[in-house]
Amino acid sequence: MSVDANQFKNALKLWASGVTVVTAYSEAEGPKGMTVTAFSSVSAEPPQVLVCLNQSADTGALIQDQKTFAVNVLNADQQTVSNQFAGGSNQQERFANVDWEAGVTGAPLLNQAIASLECRLVEQVKAGSHWIVIGEVQAVHCREGEPLLYFNSAYRELAAG
Ligand SMILES: Cc1cc2nc3c(=O)[nH]c(=O)nc-3n(C[C@H](O)[C@H](O)[C@H](O)COP(=O)(O)O)c2cc1C
Repeated sequence: MSVDANQFKNALKLWASGVTVVTAYSEAEGPKGMTVTAFSSVSAEPPQVLVCLNQSADTGALIQDQKTFAVNVLNADQQTVSNQFAGGSNQQERFANVDWEAGVTGAPLLNQAIASLECRLVEQVKAGSHWIVIGEVQAVHCREGEPLLYFNSAYRELAAG
């Protein structure tokens, strides 16, 4: 029995998630980033997370090079930022109008994100079309706000309650 890509996507879009922008930086290439929902906690001791990045994405290549990255958890008002970092624009356009600063690892921290996790690359595993990128968390920044959510191919917000 096999599952085709459409069947796979139809099932996976029923998985509700937050939305992150994964970033990296080098002097030569400047800041890079991409929208990522494939983010997960891995381990608390040591503190590790993972993101799954398409092998074609240039942010993944920079992470491999620099061995550091940041995961920025978007707030409910950042739909535009999510779309800006989701392709169809160059990296300069992605960071235009976005308030960011370099963290301890050098990776860009988006100041309006509700959380930013600064990571050192631990391991990168090839899986299908993607890299599973595992990072050890070096620093965390938590801020006020509600999260941006993604479900059934659309942005959502937490219901008032
Ligand atoms: C809501 C949303 C979630 C996404 N999640 C992922 C993801 O988890 N992994 C991934 O590789 N691409 C994901 N993408 C697509 C990438 O953001 C997009 O392919 C990337 O920015 C392209 O970067 P590039 O121009 O460097 O190739 C997502 C896009 C959107 C709109």
